[in-house]
Amino acid sequence: MARFANPIAAALDTSDLAQALKLAQSLKNDVGLFKLGMEFFFANGATGYAAVARHGAPIFLDLKLHDIPNTVVQALNSLMMLEPRPAIVNVHASGGQDMMEAAKAAIAGRTLLIAVTVLTSLADEDLKSIGFSETIDCSGHSLALARLAKAAGLDGVVCSALDVATIKRELGADFLTVVPGVRPRAASTGDQKRVATPYEARRAGADILVIGRPITRAPDPRAAARTIAKEIADAG
Ligand code: C5P
Repeated sequence: MARFANPIAAALDTSDLAQALKLAQSLKNDVGLFKLGMEFFFANGATGYAAVARHGAPIFLDLKLHDIPNTVVQALNSLMMLEPRPAIVNVHASGGQDMMEAAKAAIAGRTLLIAVTVLTSLADEDLKSIGFSETIDCSGHSLALARLAKAAGLDGVVCSALDVATIKRELGADFLTVVPGVRPRAASTGDQKRVATPYEARRAGADILVIGRPITRAPDPRAAARTIAKEIADAG
């Protein structure tokens, strides 16, 4: 993918700043981005964010904003004051088209804006249990939300590897697909349900692979990142 030479976004999911900095230091040359999410940001804020960003990799700030348009716009205005500016920020597509359009206007091209479709920790039966109709499955819902995100002018989506090929075919190769739920064959799935290996995700056309525990909880995170990078390179 042209925008990020190395497609691995390492999810530094910890509330402990020292631990995040240690990971950032050891991974900075072997991943394309650092992903900071709620766990890190709520504990460490803008100061912790800046300390991680100083290690040089672009930051995907994964706060998954989901609120009314005005609140999302004001939250994004605050995030755009971060130094350095995040490379990618995101909202939930299920916040609706008006919210996504407002978000895009607030960002004004200063960073990539993507939308979360269906969380990779949800499977078809989970969608039904939260009130979706029997006829909607994760892939169908994910495509519908991706269409909405594209219509709102967003740069891409967060989706399962299982949905990448359809989203690329329907919405175009340039529409960014950022894929969590990536598990090397030997790794445990944990709470993720719709998973794929790094090789499978890349073969399907994923632009960025978000990988947390298989790297951060490995005995040697840097070696784990390198092994995954090699597996991805083999996928072409
Ligand atoms: O440890 P693991 O590889 O499962 O981490 C995946 C990361 O991707 C977590 O930080 C999680 O918040 C994030 N994520 C996800 N599913 C989504 C969007 C983001 O797992 N749909």
